Amino acid sequence: MREKQFLWGASTSAFQVEGGYQEDGKGLSTADARTVPPGIADAKVAADHYHHMVEDVALMKELGLTIYRFSFNWSRIMGDGFEPNQQGIDFYNQLIDECLRADIVPFPTLYHFEMPQALVDKFGGWKSRECISCFVDYAKVCFEAFGDRVKMWGTINEQLIVSAASDLNGNHEKDAAQKMKDMYQMSYHMSLAEKLTIQLFRKLVPEGEIGPICSMQVVYPESPLPANILAAKNAEDFLQHCFLDMSVFGRYPQAYRRYLEKKGWYPETQPEDVKTLTDNKPDLIGINYYCSTCIRALKPNEDTSKLPPFYRNELFTLGSNPYLKKTKWMEFGIDPEGLYIGMRDIYERYHLPMIVTENGLAYSDELIDDQIHDPYRIDYLSAHISQCERFVSEGYPLLGYCAWSLLDLVSSHQGFKKRYGLIYVDRTDEDVKQCRRIPKDSYYWYQTKIRDGLKD
Ligand code: BG6
Repeated sequence: MREKQFLWGASTSAFQVEGGYQEDGKGLSTADARTVPPGIADAKVAADHYHHMVEDVALMKELGLTIYRFSFNWSRIMGDGFEPNQQGIDFYNQLIDECLRADIVPFPTLYHFEMPQALVDKFGGWKSRECISCFVDYAKVCFEAFGDRVKMWGTINEQLIVSAASDLNGNHEKDAAQKMKDMYQMSYHMSLAEKLTIQLFRKLVPEGEIGPICSMQVVYPESPLPANILAAKNAEDFLQHCFLDMSVFGRYPQAYRRYLEKKGWYPETQPEDVKTLTDNKPDLIGINYYCSTCIRALKPNEDTSKLPPFYRNELFTLGSNPYLKKTKWMEFGIDPEGLYIGMRDIYERYHLPMIVTENGLAYSDELIDDQIHDPYRIDYLSAHISQCERFVSEGYPLLGYCAWSLLDLVSSHQGFKKRYGLIYVDRTDEDVKQCRRIPKDSYYWYQTKIRDGLKD
């Protein structure tokens, strides 16, 4: 069982860090199959973790980590989506054993943005109910292979993002109206798959803990104008409660449900789903947090078609917050207090323990004299960890904190220029070089922080 002391960690995700493209039986994933614009790194080599794994775990140990949050590459474990790939399983067995030897709790997520492309080609991926059993079969393979040693698990990483990002979920539907409907249907299938997975987990890893990893939304109304307050409430329902209410209570918020029905977007369901959804509660919630979001009501005839799909409705839109410091890559601003505010809200609604699974600052670090001085990242991490300390000191159940990311990796959409790592990876978007590892100043700062422990 997990130790009760605060866990200090760092995070990665498989397709962003591993590389090992189609090696040792790995199948093509949606992340491999997408077209990346010229000049932007793809996932073929990424940070080459597949070939640097032992070195990477040694760096984690030296850093003092007590938990490593990573993801299994669905397409490495189930290359064609149906049959387990033993060589892929072997790779994760080695990774898990390396972590355990280093006294690091392995904390995998089952689904972090990539999936076998074969499932998309065969039946449209999550658009089809068939995808649910493929996911559960994959989860079963993982629980059986790793459940003896792995006791802390994430189900789906950021359902908000993955149900919307067509380059990662493989939904290339041309008709805009149908695509919106698909998004809600796909998300519903993911929720069902999550619940069936938890049901299976209880049997196969009875002493383990499992839960969703959310993209935590900390929503501020742009002003006290009542229409903006209502818009912010709607945004909370559409960007967060619809996922977490489903994960925890097995239902959608009422206003959300009604709006989807009115638009013809409400997913197709089956009567027996209700029980599956309301049973099978998770044990914990993973919190990914980068920044808060400012929301306002729409102006008359305002065009929302260029915004991400989850903002394409008449109920709310993106505002801007003049009080936050913005940077090139952190365009919504930097808001450490938002982490505290958001976790408080989540706790009061769901009453489950939480763990920060992602939090970090993107910057185009430059290697000078073989060193990276990144005081901006130290400031960011330090300010956000302080908010965790505040939260813990008030008695809230926060299990740990994982910085995003352990090492530089391919950003979800912006290649290798956008770096989050505590460890620099020496490559560029166009030249993969040797992917040499160089700890940044923030790595040494975090090492000291971990040694000193939580402040009261
Ligand atoms: C989270 C994801 O959305 O944010 C990560 O879980 C992602 O996979 C991270 O990398 C940062 O986003 P981006 O787009 O800058 O890579």
